[in-house]
Amino acid sequence: MGEIRSSTYAPSSNFNSVKTYWPTQVRKIQTLDFGGTKEQVHERSDWPKEKYQELFKNDTIAIIGYGSQGSGQSLNAKDNGLNVIVGLREGGKSWEQAKKDGWVPGKNLFSINDALSRGTIIGNLLSDAAQKELWPQFVPHLKKGKTLYFSHGFSIVYKDQTHVVPPSDVDDVSGKAKDKAVALGVSIGSGYLYETTFQKEVFSDLVGERGVLMGAIQGLFLAQYEVLRAHGHTPSEAFNETVEEATQSLYPLIGQNGMDWMYAACSTTARRGALDWYKPFHDATKPVFEKLYASVADGTETRRTLEKNSSPTYREDLEKELKEIRESEMWRAGKTVRRLRPEWKDD
Ligand SMILES: NC(=O)c1ccc[n+]([C@@H]2O[C@H](COP(=O)([O-])OP(=O)(O)OC[C@H]3O[C@@H](n4cnc5c(N)ncnc54)[C@H](OP(=O)(O)O)[C@@H]3O)[C@@H](O)[C@H]2O)c1
Repeated sequence: MGEIRSSTYAPSSNFNSVKTYWPTQVRKIQTLDFGGTKEQVHERSDWPKEKYQELFKNDTIAIIGYGSQGSGQSLNAKDNGLNVIVGLREGGKSWEQAKKDGWVPGKNLFSINDALSRGTIIGNLLSDAAQKELWPQFVPHLKKGKTLYFSHGFSIVYKDQTHVVPPSDVDDVSGKAKDKAVALGVSIGSGYLYETTFQKEVFSDLVGERGVLMGAIQGLFLAQYEVLRAHGHTPSEAFNETVEEATQSLYPLIGQNGMDWMYAACSTTARRGALDWYKPFHDATKPVFEKLYASVADGTETRRTLEKNSSPTYREDLEKELKEIRESEMWRAGKTVRRLRPEWKDD
């Protein structure tokens, strides 16, 4: 089984192109050089609107779940002219939100069961914990010829814990699954798509969010802030030197131009220090990343996620943890700093 992972970032313009012959069409698939490794990338221009509308003209796309993924994907696909329905538990938070967004009960908003029965392409976009819990409801509807897709490899890869095992005659088997995945990816609004496997996607995704995207970054911010505070720096100074300059000034520039550009553009003093100190930070954190990868690969992270996220006190427990961060000195200082930004507007 494969997965097409999408991204909304703009593609690089420096590429070679090769011709690839696909079952439904002949087109160029871009092969880009990613730091010396060549990878295929699928772009919007591979699937103009008329082409995917034609491909899906007899399909009903049933999106189950309406979190950030379900809402975004269903609304985009509907706006792009596909026949989309949404399946949710009646009366839940998502049901109310979907109605506010224009979905109409009985027309294109249904119970999960009804949507599963009507859909020919089913997007399982429930929370990962709910995917495990509700899987037995999905199974009777996954008839031969239907297509099932996920936006995360979690349920599939950790099947020993989730028991999510799709029948062997839903698509991946028609020979057109890859075409459908790319076309669907474009129709739900992806800027470009690259190929991966369920396992690679879930391992890298879980590492990323626990690591540099969120877990590691809060850890690093906090450690630096605490050291500055312990040495007598004020909260505003500690916050500015730790978070504000990073998120408001430097990180967007690194995103636009790369790290070497950033190092070249800063003062000579900053440059010398950054060049010298990235190595000790690398050496200190690499073992933590290795430990994190192992915890993802052996299923420990999944066990913990499923256990915590299906607890009856999930929302209260989560709020307690978020409150602790929100009410920490560093982020209270951040709230004040944010108000000082020239573009700040009171609600
Ligand atoms: N969030 C992201 O940035 C992101 C990015 C890429 C991929 N993904 C993946 O996309 C999928 C969906 O994630 P998400 O963040 O959009 O959604 P989510 O917030 O994790 O899940 C929300 C949906 O699950 C439903 N749900 C939860 N428990 C349920 C239950 N017991 N019975 C029925 N419905 C239940 C909720 O309905 P109610 O409102 O009725 O509770 C809601 O519609 C996941 O596989 C996730 O890993 C997420």
